[in-house]
Amino acid sequence: MDVAILHAGDARAPRDGAIVPNMTAAVRSSEAAPSAYPGLFDIGDLSVYYGSFRAIRNVSLSIAEHEITAFIGPSGCGKTTLLRCLNRMNDLIETARVEGRVMYHGVDLYDRRVDPVEVRRRIGMVFQKPNPFPKSIYENVSFGPKIAGFKGDMHDLVERSLRKAALWDEVKDRLKESAWGLSGGQQQRLCIARCIAVEPDVILMDEPCSALDPIATGRIEDLMQDLKDEYTIVIVTHNMQQAARVSDRTAFFTAEVNEAQDRRTGILVEFDKTEQIFTNPSDERTENYVTGRFG
Ligand SMILES: Nc1ncnc2c1ncn2[C@@H]1O[C@H](COP(=O)(O)OP(=O)(O)OP(=O)(O)O)[C@@H](O)[C@H]1O
Ligand SMILES: [Mg+2]
Repeated sequence: MDVAILHAGDARAPRDGAIVPNMTAAVRSSEAAPSAYPGLFDIGDLSVYYGSFRAIRNVSLSIAEHEITAFIGPSGCGKTTLLRCLNRMNDLIETARVEGRVMYHGVDLYDRRVDPVEVRRRIGMVFQKPNPFPKSIYENVSFGPKIAGFKGDMHDLVERSLRKAALWDEVKDRLKESAWGLSGGQQQRLCIARCIAVEPDVILMDEPCSALDPIATGRIEDLMQDLKDEYTIVIVTHNMQQAARVSDRTAFFTAEVNEAQDRRTGILVEFDKTEQIFTNPSDERTENYVTGRFG
């Protein structure tokens, strides 16, 4: 695996996923050597602030490649905040500040040499509400590769992406029609196809099924299982059954309230194999949450 998320610091830096040899060597030889961090993502002692407000604190966990990792916990405990750290979406929030370590393939994602645009191509995101562009189905999928300068067969790429997102058969005869004419579940699969089209390594999903009915939800869950051979998936969900059904590992977060009762900070309570979290958690707070006694 190369570390092409690093740019060489000049305008000639490749943006097409090619290795930047000097920078790769520099990172490999640094103390952040890949071998020190066995996960695809290794998050260490991570805190995120919005202005002076600390939204999450001291989160450490490791996300394995080709697994589905679920983040669960009550509203406001910082699941979205943490997810956004994994592809530097927090950069887009002016007040947000990240402290601690987010290693990806052994590279510090917050190293100043890292190119956030390349990070977001490699680590795609699907949001709670399907958000296709007001363009045709075809253009929604081709948009990202076009911007990235894709030179290959675009029709083939669009078809492949839609097939991988289990949407091709439903839309192949209406590719020129507006994406907004699709159902909510189809729109969400289109957003997954759009994400896949730029050939990411990781797909982050923030409550991707919360606006969908059970049938559409089932289709997305099946799709996630198909996709995990090729991608690593991190999903935030409020749906306990969903986390139990789809994920390999689950992280349970909660919000700690300060003494003055006016500040809530998200903390990681427990991170383990999903089966363990749901059948035999080691922390009472996890047990209370997964059994519905809290939250
Ligand atoms: N852009 C922002 N600016 C300021 N505070 C924010 C911002 N985004 C989130 N927060 C605060 O950070 C804390 C964590 O929010 P976050 O959205 O990460 O929680 P969450 O676990 O995803 O909640 P939910 O389950 O409701 O989506 C909350 O107190 C929230 O108000
Ligand atoms: Mg959220």
